[in-house]
Amino acid sequence: MKIAIADSGAGGLFVAKKLLERTRAGKIIYFADTAHSPYGSLSERVLTRVMRRNCAEMAERGAQAIVLACNTATAVCIDDLRREFGHIVFIGTEPAIRPAAAACCTLTVMATPLTLAQPRFAALLARSGVRVNAPDCSSLARLVERDFPDMTAAEREAERILSRVPRGELGAVVIGCTHYSWLAPFIKKRFGCSVFDGADGVVSNIVRKCAPFCGAADIELVVTDPADRAKYERAAARILDGISR
Ligand code: DGL
Repeated sequence: MKIAIADSGAGGLFVAKKLLERTRAGKIIYFADTAHSPYGSLSERVLTRVMRRNCAEMAERGAQAIVLACNTATAVCIDDLRREFGHIVFIGTEPAIRPAAAACCTLTVMATPLTLAQPRFAALLARSGVRVNAPDCSSLARLVERDFPDMTAAEREAERILSRVPRGELGAVVIGCTHYSWLAPFIKKRFGCSVFDGADGVVSNIVRKCAPFCGAADIELVVTDPADRAKYERAAARILDGISR
């Protein structure tokens, strides 16, 4: 099955990397919509329009499954996309609230403002029955995207954001935006807390719903802002190099 993995940029690459590490096989289309990044600052209407166009392009390129490796796009429009592209398998990404709530009674959820504002997110929280901090992370995806793969500025910003959560209130940190997945090791080390990231669950879903993959591991890149293409080519080469060793 040919799958496409889509995000506003570097966040979904984390999912692509994990998938290829786990399966070591299969060609994926990686769709980095850097021209519209960050998604967390768009309106729901604009993001839905953008995602419709992107999904049409991925379908045209032969994708039979589309992974929204993006919490924001999943929360805003996965239902609309499923309705519109009935022949495509969609796999979404949601903050790992459930496993985190089973392990800890206070959670700090790091997500974009648009994700936090969605009824889908509210429903996820309502089912969990835990106390949740949701600090303002609106600056973070932009920093990850700007400097990727260098995380120095984003780590400093994550430290500033999490240091403002009252002492003893941090609990477990839930990564609710795939861009922040790249910051998880830093957060774990700096704050000594558990970090829950939905990326592993997304990869398991892909393997379960979309296997078998065929061919050697390969990434076909679509980068909507041509100025970012070289950066993404380097990142894809690094991922493929890492898994072939
Ligand atoms: N990586 C995306 C997410 O998981 C979007 C971040 C952004 O572009 O604001 O929400």
